[in-house]
Amino acid sequence: MTEVVRLENRGEIALIMVNNPPVNALGQAVRQGLLQAFRAAEANTAVRAVVLACEGNTFIAGADIKEFGKPPQAPGLPEVIDAIEGCSKPSVAVIHGTALGGGLEVALGCHYRIARKDAKVGLPEVKLGLLPGAGGTQRLPRLAGVAKALDMIVSGAPIGAAEAMAHNIVDELFEGELAEAGIGFARRLLNADRGPRCSGEQTLGLEGADNEALIRAKRAEVAARMPGLFSPLRCVAAVEAAVKLPLAEGLKRERELFVECLDSPQRGALVRAFFAERQASKINDLPADVKPRPVTTAAVIGGGTMGVGIALSFANAGVPVKLLEINEDALQRGLQRARDTYAASVKRGSLTEEAMEKRLSLITGVTDYAALADVDLVVEAVFEDMGVKRQVFERLDAVCKPGAILASNTSSLDLNAIAAFTKRPQDVVGLHFFSPANVMRLLEVVRGAQTSHEVLATAMAIGKQLKKVSVVVGVCDGFVGNRMVFQYGREAEFLLEEGATPQQVDGALRTFGMAMGPFAMRDLSGLDIGQAIRQRQRLTLPAEFELPVVSDKLCAAGMLGQKTGAGFYRYEPGNRVPQENPTLAALLDAASQEKGIQRRPLDEAYIVERTILALVNEGARILEEGIAQRSSDIDVIYLNGYGFPAFRGGPMFYADSLGLDVVLGKIEALHARCGAWWKPAPLLERLAAEGRRFSDWQPGQ
Ligand code: 3HC
Ligand code: NAI
Repeated sequence: MTEVVRLENRGEIALIMVNNPPVNALGQAVRQGLLQAFRAAEANTAVRAVVLACEGNTFIAGADIKEFGKPPQAPGLPEVIDAIEGCSKPSVAVIHGTALGGGLEVALGCHYRIARKDAKVGLPEVKLGLLPGAGGTQRLPRLAGVAKALDMIVSGAPIGAAEAMAHNIVDELFEGELAEAGIGFARRLLNADRGPRCSGEQTLGLEGADNEALIRAKRAEVAARMPGLFSPLRCVAAVEAAVKLPLAEGLKRERELFVECLDSPQRGALVRAFFAERQASKINDLPADVKPRPVTTAAVIGGGTMGVGIALSFANAGVPVKLLEINEDALQRGLQRARDTYAASVKRGSLTEEAMEKRLSLITGVTDYAALADVDLVVEAVFEDMGVKRQVFERLDAVCKPGAILASNTSSLDLNAIAAFTKRPQDVVGLHFFSPANVMRLLEVVRGAQTSHEVLATAMAIGKQLKKVSVVVGVCDGFVGNRMVFQYGREAEFLLEEGATPQQVDGALRTFGMAMGPFAMRDLSGLDIGQAIRQRQRLTLPAEFELPVVSDKLCAAGMLGQKTGAGFYRYEPGNRVPQENPTLAALLDAASQEKGIQRRPLDEAYIVERTILALVNEGARILEEGIAQRSSDIDVIYLNGYGFPAFRGGPMFYADSLGLDVVLGKIEALHARCGAWWKPAPLLERLAAEGRRFSDWQPGQ
């Protein structure tokens, strides 16, 4: 066999073991090894059954994503799975960890499947802009039914072993050793005289439901909920082929659709996003021997919007956390907010009552700093005021044990100044959560001038423990995400002064793929936040950097967004759906007039350029200043914290895909037309001149 696939004969049973760390992906050597092993088992007359299992943490987690876009190397996965399914001896896949994508397809090629109780199975290809291309769309509906197959293939979400068994995807659950469980199951098959059973030949899943109606409904759902995405509609078309065509023809149709997806630019962007997320966890200058400190207990200071969300994140990860407030009343409000948040999840059915109580029991309310003497990590989330931060960090410095990590959730204050309030600036780091902190996956880990390697490594490890996507950023106003969004929001507001309405701007950016338009977003977070920042900026900004006035006018009229029932939009009580704000038109006219602007209709392409390229230009500055380690980190921030469409890869990848010379040309035109804010970033000018991309730039080049 090959190095990565081993065949052992255990009496009359052939045991095939895959060993291709870290996730047993189906690279060429594994495909080749599987083909050879199944052929050898077929040829060996002493073998009566075959067991397939994997070493390491997981069953096969899918095709080797690194091979996409490269010339195909034989044997292809469909060929391997045909050989597995066509084997004349019964085969058993023994699933542990995650059987994903091509991994589940290999398991479906086997005649029987058993899964360890904690295993998961899924077809996540859609998340990479693909569809299952090795029979998954044909075999899964035949076993699990069209409704379940459509759900799994279109959402890409994995399901647990018990659910897989309930849907006929696996035959039995087990606990304990893999080979032993597989061989035991195979022996029972032989004793019961049960032979091969091909998933592709089963029809049970296709019977008894109105499959055409299910397909129609899913198509409508995809059109409404996933606009702009290339692969989901093709996933539905592939399942439709399973319903309408015999297996061989269905497999052919699946392949055609798979190749269309493989060739689409969206696949390139989504695969890039997958690797970018993993790359973000790597810190360029961190010596390999740096070990994170253990964090088993935590504390949060401030039980407001963010503090409670952060405390919930710790409780969700099973970490006991103390929540400290200024007095008993404020503390009780915070604890009640925590309970209410969980209660809403219980009501929605996403959390059990028992799990809620267990998680709440991990949150202890305190008002005395002495209670924090033994915690491993503290996250401060008090008012955004340097004086208050000072008080808190001086107290923490006095009471916390040596080696405790002192983190701040500040969104705009200077972390180095905060660190200087302590005698241990090396232990101070920023943990910038996004609201709601218990839901949003993004965590900006802010590296202060003196933050130690060990503390940085620990901060990243905590992020992983909390199931966040953590990205290291440097200290500057707004770090990466908010510094860029400031440019974006300002340009969006200038568009209102030029002639657009919030509906037009939000609509154009949603069509581009943004999860939410900038004005709906600002109504949600509250217009007063931006106002405070603008007031600060007006004091220092040179005269040529003009600011828009629309949101100031809204604030002056008491329209602060959703919380006051009106902002850029109007809101009915208890309803978050934006309606037209009837007072806005007059206010926009006044703003345009004040600036001597003749209002004019704006087209969608201009709206997108004006806002998205503002992100790109600032991203280039951030990159050159070393505030982000690499352009893909900026993209990870935008995909996970700001609703940027994953199928466009993030703002920097989007710019790379347009071509930096094209981007520079557009920015130069905007500079000539709109003034100082649009001065092209020097790094953009340099890379465009050299015909390079953001993604191949390294600091110091
Ligand atoms: N191919 C190549 N490398 C992969 C990989 C894959 N399918 N899946 C994971 N890796 C790599 C990661 O890049 C990472 O590498 P690094 O250490 O160098 O950064 C390493 O494996 C570990 O990955 P994670 O950090 O993600 O480890 P976790 O333990 O957190 O998660 C996992 C494991 C759940 C398997 C997760 O990695 C995952 O979801 N992988 C992708 C699964 C997937 O999408 N499979 C479908 C592929 S498409 C397909 O199969 C097409 C077929 O239908 C023809
Ligand atoms: P908030 O006003 O909702 O909550 C602050 C809480 O801190 C209040 O409950 C207050 O009683 C408490 N507090 C004040 N002084 C304290 C002290 N000395 N000791 C203990 N508790 C004290 O504020 P919010 O929105 O939760 O923000 C907190 C921090 O998080 C700020 O630094 C903010 O910039 C940052 N942040 C806010 C985000 C948001 O969307 N609201 C997003 C990311 C960061």
